[in-house]
Amino acid sequence: MKKIKISPSILSADFSQLGSEIKRLEEGGADMIHVDVMDGHFVPNLTIGPPVIKNLRKYTNIPFDVHLMISPVHKYIKDYADAGADIITIHPEATDSLEDSIKEIRNYKKKVGVSLNPDTKLEVIEKNLDKIDLVLIMSVHPGFGGQKFISDVLNKIKDLSNIKKERKLEFDIEVDGGINFSNSKDVINAGANILVSGTTVFRENNGDLKKNIKTLKLF
Ligand code: DX5
Ligand code: ZN
Repeated sequence: MKKIKISPSILSADFSQLGSEIKRLEEGGADMIHVDVMDGHFVPNLTIGPPVIKNLRKYTNIPFDVHLMISPVHKYIKDYADAGADIITIHPEATDSLEDSIKEIRNYKKKVGVSLNPDTKLEVIEKNLDKIDLVLIMSVHPGFGGQKFISDVLNKIKDLSNIKKERKLEFDIEVDGGINFSNSKDVINAGANILVSGTTVFRENNGDLKKNIKTLKLF
């Protein structure tokens, strides 16, 4: 049976207590920590940057899955690598050259993630798939937590999963946005092996992180 990982998004955490929230996530069984970086330009919302990530790094050893929703992203990759990101995920629309930005992430020995918005086609990354460690399929328009899952993306996840099998590639398929206890099984069955979750992990069952993380892994 395939192993499902949960990457809780700290966007739904208590921002005044991020250190202890990360500790709580680790104790609750999070496989990685999803850090949503927004610049108020690429997306209409603003969150945190490298100094905060650097300070959070000392609270846990589990991987930091850093989702950069910033543009232009290329010149900032080093800052996120230095701050302690383990996976650096960028959007193709946010860079002049996806190939160069992939090389830049690799240069710092970090895992390469590329994220596709709901309206961005798989063709944009198809020829680079052998250089990518993780494809992050957005199931909401990026910018805010708590949005409704766009079910059309299930087909995109299936298509990507078929390409992965046909080409015998190893990248992770991560899905982000609006994941809850009713759609998580569909997302996993479509081919995802990592689920991002903010609202469900932090709010369901009175915030019982352990229970929520465990329930999201069921399929
Ligand atoms: C949206 C972010 C997501 C989001 C997930 O721009 O990339 O990570 O916070 O949160 P929920 O699970 O609430 O949709
Ligand atoms: Zn995200």
